[in-house]
Amino acid sequence: MYIDKFLKNHPKIKISKKTLMLCRVGEQKMADSIDQLHDNHHIGRLLSNLESFLKDNRNHKKINFEILLLSIIWHDTWKAKKQSLNPFKLLFHQIYEGFGSVIIFSKHSVGLLPKSIIVEVNYAIRKHAQFQFFPLNSIEAKILKDLDDLDLFHVRRLRPLIKKRNQVNYFTKIFGKYYINKLSSKKSLNNLQFSWTKKKTNKINKIVKKLLKTI
Ligand SMILES: [Fe+2]
Ligand SMILES: [Fe+2]
Repeated sequence: MYIDKFLKNHPKIKISKKTLMLCRVGEQKMADSIDQLHDNHHIGRLLSNLESFLKDNRNHKKINFEILLLSIIWHDTWKAKKQSLNPFKLLFHQIYEGFGSVIIFSKHSVGLLPKSIIVEVNYAIRKHAQFQFFPLNSIEAKILKDLDDLDLFHVRRLRPLIKKRNQVNYFTKIFGKYYINKLSSKKSLNNLQFSWTKKKTNKINKIVKKLLKTI
């Protein structure tokens, strides 16, 4: 599992047995996903990008890894059970998905983990969704949001969309293009929390702009 690989690569990061068990349960849920944009490979990429992020940002003392790893693994567990092929559903999912995953995570963690951890994981999960109007308050929420936004346009996620472009209607295509354009705009880039993510996203956005022309 991706979580085991991550912990093996970072022996100094210690998490409790219960947290590890919940990480594995969450990862299995993602492996059973019906939405290929939100599956266990998405989680694997976030964990692998977290490794690069940690190499670049050496001050890890403020990070609570129990909270961060649980947030990363559980943040899309609701979305993994849904597909959004029309723009109205997509919009609703973008707004609701944080709350949906919070409910799923709470069902699995209440009574098992300390309340303080559950509250912080739920906060990070809720704040990862698009359309946030208030600044993020915790380091774990900031890292999750940046890692997740960085993976938005991973080529592995874009490829199936481009392949399916003839199956979607004109309206959805226009909306999709507008949405991708908006997410890869300068304004979105400025909303990222860390300079590490900004640099990486800048590179990806150039590739995305080229790809958009082919749709
Ligand atoms: Fe999400
Ligand atoms: Fe995600």
